[in-house]
Amino acid sequence: MKAPGKRDLVSIDDLGSEEILELFRHADAFRENLRGWSHVCGGTILATLFFEPSTRTRLSFESAMLRLGGGVITVPEGSSSSRAKGESLADTVRVVGGAYADILVVRHPQDGSALVAGRYADVPVINGGDGAHEHPTQTLCDMYTLWRERGRLEGLDVVLCGDLRYSRTIHSLAYALGRFRANIITIPYPGFEMPKYVLEKLRKDYGVKATSASLGDLQDIVADRSSAAAYLTASKPHQQALFTELTEHHVDRIDAIYMTRAQRERYGSEQEGGMTFPKLSEASLRSEMFRDTRVMHPLPRVDEIDFELDKDPRAVYFRQAEFGVPMRMALMAFLLGKIQLDAKPPALRGEANYLSSVGGFVCRNERCITMGEGRRYLIPEFQVLAEQPPQLACVYCGRVRAPALVGDRTQNRCAAVGAPWIDAVAAADRIYFGSEEQAVAAGFSVDPEVR
Ligand code: CP
Repeated sequence: MKAPGKRDLVSIDDLGSEEILELFRHADAFRENLRGWSHVCGGTILATLFFEPSTRTRLSFESAMLRLGGGVITVPEGSSSSRAKGESLADTVRVVGGAYADILVVRHPQDGSALVAGRYADVPVINGGDGAHEHPTQTLCDMYTLWRERGRLEGLDVVLCGDLRYSRTIHSLAYALGRFRANIITIPYPGFEMPKYVLEKLRKDYGVKATSASLGDLQDIVADRSSAAAYLTASKPHQQALFTELTEHHVDRIDAIYMTRAQRERYGSEQEGGMTFPKLSEASLRSEMFRDTRVMHPLPRVDEIDFELDKDPRAVYFRQAEFGVPMRMALMAFLLGKIQLDAKPPALRGEANYLSSVGGFVCRNERCITMGEGRRYLIPEFQVLAEQPPQLACVYCGRVRAPALVGDRTQNRCAAVGAPWIDAVAAADRIYFGSEEQAVAAGFSVDPEVR
């Protein structure tokens, strides 16, 4: 379905590590003279399709395209577009990508919406934030900031704080930190821990392992590091000790603290349960460990960083936002073929191995686009992560779910997971169901011996 040869940025995984570093160098060049590049994208039109509020992402993309000499058309909020009349995202991007615009940036409340946009649009699509899933261009800005401030990415000790459950910036950033073999200490708000599917992807794709998890505020981590954090580290031989013998890893200093606000737009007020979220202030950073740290935040800030901290030289969150313009200039120039990179692209995602689930298994993530507007036109698709017992990851939102039954498509027959005859069914002929009722509704008989 996706136009051949075009590059989208749906996930931070869509860029190779060397490509990211090359883009940083281009961003440096753009940044040195922001007004000197109006010849790069003359005659090119960017469409920003934003179905959720934004200040930085939308305006920095628009500014970036204008600075590159192109033009901009925009849907600044969903209610001002035909989405309000029920138009699907797929139809919107099919119409806008092409005669109307040469590149799209899409922000949408449903997880997996950026993949849908990329598949249906004929022009490059950039994910400007899809639900609680990913925000890869924020990660480019974050990693660019870290790279400039610290001079490297490998081996950094970075603390991720706040709402790690719903913050899409955290998920993309954790993947990128893992890829560049930085160490991550997580300090979630209670009940807002990093989702299991993110931890599982970190483990599987980047060899990053969580060794322990408990709650604590920044003071706690200074007082008792071994019990106040989940520690993750890339699985490199020289770093193995970090997660096998956590307490022997001595952290002399924290390179960066990345704070996030509670993403209240994604959950009900009952989940907070009257909790007061901890606030980062100068007082919380008095320890020697934080003497040279960088305080980062994707913004918008609500109350989670004391305004007094803004004048502290360790606070770099406004610089992070400023870097959004040159970084996004570099990204768009690259995706439009205006600059070339020497680095090779990452291996294509394994779409050939994706499993379409007609009449069968569905994603259970209520924010997934396959459970929202996609019910009208998307066929659920899964990647088989494991066979015994089966674990399926939704291709759109990444959530992992275990099916209850496995069947043989060629015989319209199925059985509970673990039935011995399933082993003989070829992988291509297997079909998965969440329940017996679902299997029967799809016309399958359920093996009575293992019912
Ligand atoms: N960081 C970020 O995505 O900000 P906006 O929501 O203002 O775009």
